[in-house]
Amino acid sequence: MALFSLGYFEIFLAIICFFYLRNLRSFKRLAWKLPILGTFPYLIMNIHRIHDKCAEVLEKTRGTYHLKGPSFANMDILGTVDPANVHYIMSSNFVNFPKGPEFKKIFEVLGDGIFNSDLDLWKCQRKLARALLNHQSFHKFLVSTSWNKVEKGLIPILDYVAKQGLMVDLQDVFQRLTFDTTCKFVTGYDPGCLSIDFPGVPFSKAMDEVEEAIFMRHILPEIVLKLERWLGIGQEKKLSKSWKILDEVICKYISVKQEELKKGTKSTNDEEGFDLLTSYINLGDNEITTGLKRDDKFLRDTIINFMIAGRDTTSSALTWFIWLVSTHPTVLNKIREELKSVIQVNEEAENFRLFKVDELKNLVYIHAALCESMRLYPPVPFQHKFPLQPDTLPSGHRVHPKIKVIFSLYAMGRMKFIWGKDSWEFKPERWISERGTIKHEPSYKFLAFNAGPRTCLGKEVAFTQMKAVAAAMIHNYNVEMVEGHPVVPNLSVILYMKHGLKVRVSKRWA
Ligand code: HEM
Repeated sequence: MALFSLGYFEIFLAIICFFYLRNLRSFKRLAWKLPILGTFPYLIMNIHRIHDKCAEVLEKTRGTYHLKGPSFANMDILGTVDPANVHYIMSSNFVNFPKGPEFKKIFEVLGDGIFNSDLDLWKCQRKLARALLNHQSFHKFLVSTSWNKVEKGLIPILDYVAKQGLMVDLQDVFQRLTFDTTCKFVTGYDPGCLSIDFPGVPFSKAMDEVEEAIFMRHILPEIVLKLERWLGIGQEKKLSKSWKILDEVICKYISVKQEELKKGTKSTNDEEGFDLLTSYINLGDNEITTGLKRDDKFLRDTIINFMIAGRDTTSSALTWFIWLVSTHPTVLNKIREELKSVIQVNEEAENFRLFKVDELKNLVYIHAALCESMRLYPPVPFQHKFPLQPDTLPSGHRVHPKIKVIFSLYAMGRMKFIWGKDSWEFKPERWISERGTIKHEPSYKFLAFNAGPRTCLGKEVAFTQMKAVAAAMIHNYNVEMVEGHPVVPNLSVILYMKHGLKVRVSKRWA
């Protein structure tokens, strides 16, 4: 009997070995699969370098790869960076690819805000948000807030660390800057996080933790997440703690603002009063349409959606941009030359100077360098969709309502078949036409700001802020990387540097 059972054991071992060896051969080519567990162990083993791994696999499969996890984990993912598929899903067959209930579950902390809604609720929110962001008064508010933050927040810090010879984490500085400006746009208050004493910012920390937990919700099977929630451990525990902090702070903002507006202590007409919260509280009944309730929950959801939209994306983009420019001297010098061209002949060029939004608006090279930086390091590194009905993508892949379609924006920017042989290189020139103007790249190829009807509404807000900060830094300071500091992406729904961006800064002019 023992001999008999040993026989079964050996047969079982032989089968396992067969699958392992078979998969070992394909290991070098693609992601390997195991019986029962599918590609799940491969995914977990490569999680620390998931973005590069995706790029590697998707380059080899010419843009689309089907990843199947264990059946109990409900993990059926189609990864694609094929521009034809992106165009189909985001634009031409948009109605069949809503964000869906799965997205809402993963991003539940965003409530019913614009990022997390579909159909009429989304349409209504988008209409409102677009009208507010395109309003002339909001534009004035944006210009003055961006200028003030650079002049009174960023410059004193850079001067201070330069004078003291201190090392500084620029990622932290940019997060503080965009946190302050976004708070000001959204709520009308400036929390003053960008200051020399680097105060602790529980709200900001809570947002980072929420984003990391949301990332893990994309990777881990539901059963593991449920267990974490049940046992009160891991990322799910952090998520619920951070969620509470966000709710408490936002609730305070709403009640203070409502009180101020009731008492009439804040003007709602001048540009100082043109924050989104004030505008949303003051919406007329005819402006609120289908499905929207004008209550505190709606205000809370709107605030958190805009805070994530504005703070994180812009500070991530600035961090990667300054690192790339500082480590590519030719690009740095070209930006400096372009900035010099703005300075009037009767003005001393080699002097401390800040640049006005209007002076930077039409500069081609700095715009090209920002696009190039977001091609390689898109602040939102991936997105996902679920089809409503079974469908066939232009690449020929079949999809159905249980399959998660993921676009890796990070991988997309690095595909040789999309961007050419030099796709991994930082070359702003690829964005400049022969006539010297910005070359338009279709959004289904350069997806950093999304594509189709859900295209980012804050693109101009982001470029305005990024140019103001970048020009001030590049014209007035030298940035030197701290030797040996590792620059690697983190694991989150926003592409930050895992260890921050540690640099030393010196002034260019006496
Ligand atoms: C470099 C900066 C930015 C980048 C790379 C960026 C990128 C994106 C992306 C990828 C989406 C689609 C997200 C999704 O559907 O899941 C999006 C949507 C959105 N963005 Fe941005 N964004 C940036 C800055 C901003 C700013 C500063 C604001 C507002 C002040 C903003 C407002 C929005 C809004 C409201 C949406 C939702 C659009 C919709 O679903 O209809 N974004 N953005």
